[in-house]
Amino acid sequence: MVRLKVNGVVHTLDVEEEAPLLWVIRDEIGLTGTKFGCGIAQCGACTVHVNGQAQRSCVTPVGSVQDAEITTIEGLSANGLIPAQQAWIDHQVPQCGYCQSGMLMAVSALLAANPHPSDEQLEQSITNICRCGTYPRIRAAVRALAATGEG
Ligand code: FES
Ligand code: FES
Repeated sequence: MVRLKVNGVVHTLDVEEEAPLLWVIRDEIGLTGTKFGCGIAQCGACTVHVNGQAQRSCVTPVGSVQDAEITTIEGLSANGLIPAQQAWIDHQVPQCGYCQSGMLMAVSALLAANPHPSDEQLEQSITNICRCGTYPRIRAAVRALAATGEG
């Protein structure tokens, strides 16, 4: 049995400790906002927060995060939208949207650690892939957030 705390809720689950966190979040807990892209830690579609840090859940064994606070896109904004989500709307960032929950998890973790990231820091920190090419709009949204210090 594995004990996981996701979005403030504790789950006791009959899964192997080696099972990828992504599959447990989606298939066992039923939170499908976190996406599968590559399964090999390359694309970032599966990004969640583990103790506030962005982490790729496709390569995270659930047994390694049993004592952690895990946040998914569903738990990012328990009370209304966080500023990053509003900026995503204002700058019309999403296209197909598939990568965007992972993008928002990665960007919100960056902004929590560094409220005023430069373009260079953004590019170094956010290695998530968007096949629709929304990078210019992401940069614009993050620039607006960096100017206000909100994230
Ligand atoms: S699905 Fe995890 S990084 Fe691509
Ligand atoms: S918005 Fe389509 S993959 Fe990023």
